[in-house]
Amino acid sequence: EEFEGSGVWRYNAALPFEEGVTLPEGDTPLHEVPRLREEIGVDSLRIKHEGMNPTGAFKDRGMTVGVAVAKELGVGRLACASTGNTSAALAAYGARGGMETLVLLPSGKVAAGKIAQASLHGARILEVDGNFDSCLDIVQELAGLGEVYLLNSLNPFRLEGQKTIGFEILEEHYEDYGEYPDRIVLPVGNAGNTAALYKAFRELVASGALDESEVPTLTGVQAEGAAPMVEAVQNGRDEVRRWDDVETRATAIRIGNPVNAPKALPGIYNTGGTAVAVSDDEITDAQRDLATSGIGVEPASAASLAGLRKLRANGEISADESVVCLTTGHLLKDPDAAFEAGGDPEPVPNDTEAVLEHINDGETG
Ligand code: F0G
Repeated sequence: EEFEGSGVWRYNAALPFEEGVTLPEGDTPLHEVPRLREEIGVDSLRIKHEGMNPTGAFKDRGMTVGVAVAKELGVGRLACASTGNTSAALAAYGARGGMETLVLLPSGKVAAGKIAQASLHGARILEVDGNFDSCLDIVQELAGLGEVYLLNSLNPFRLEGQKTIGFEILEEHYEDYGEYPDRIVLPVGNAGNTAALYKAFRELVASGALDESEVPTLTGVQAEGAAPMVEAVQNGRDEVRRWDDVETRATAIRIGNPVNAPKALPGIYNTGGTAVAVSDDEITDAQRDLATSGIGVEPASAASLAGLRKLRANGEISADESVVCLTTGHLLKDPDAAFEAGGDPEPVPNDTEAVLEHINDGETG
């Protein structure tokens, strides 16, 4: 029954199973943002807000399939390396499926909301004195030893679930406008979504449901301090050079070794897309702009809008395009970043007169 409400399992004809461990996930909004559309200057602009999934990030779409596979295989212990969101989704879906979960996180670099989720959903949390890429090295080795079942996006079943982001975007966009979007702009970390969207579109083309010319242009955005994919794309390379030192306020995409690059780069090249890096301040501005349009996203998610703005400003994206920006995680994932980007609360006396005086006093508060 629950399966009926899932925006993932609705597309089970394109998935490896009929149904899985579900909360349910998917069916996320495709928001219009008229003021931002006008300001940036494109024909249409929609925000696909994946932060509206059960654990607040797109990871749920992959995890519902990944945990189903793990159940089928009868494995005991599920594990992932994570910048935070994958660990929250693994903990929740593992708990739902009655399985033990282990997560490896880069110490001091994971947003508070995500650790809180992993903890309360019952994952065993190991904080590694290293970055995300080192965590993934370790968990891959543990999986190789047969100690754990790996549920990072290196696991192809995760990407099967994430394909449904592409199906939903095309379906909703077509319903509203009678055409598919010209371009999808998305944040890139491990490049799992880029790979998954490309696979979704290739399968639609192969089945005859979509014409090759209708495949949206895939455009990846990274933070300047963690931009190995952008470096590869801007040099037209087919391989990514691993960055050992990465830093960005958008901790979700603080990744130097995008493991899905071999599947994602063809997606960017073959759709005529590109990749662009944005600064942390550009990310924060975009996060604030989305929030003041009522859409609460975490910093990594805002990278997509920041990237669109940059590419529109330098003319790489033209005014006649219809664009969808993917926002991958919810504002509440990273309360500290939200406080930094937003205004501070104003202390007032416990007295109506004084409050009235304060609010009419203008900007001084
Ligand atoms: N946005 C958010 C909010 C993320 O959490 C991630 C990845 C990405 C974008 C990048 O997506 O890997 O498909 O390119 N987070 C992973 C994690 C690494 O552990 O939660 P990608």
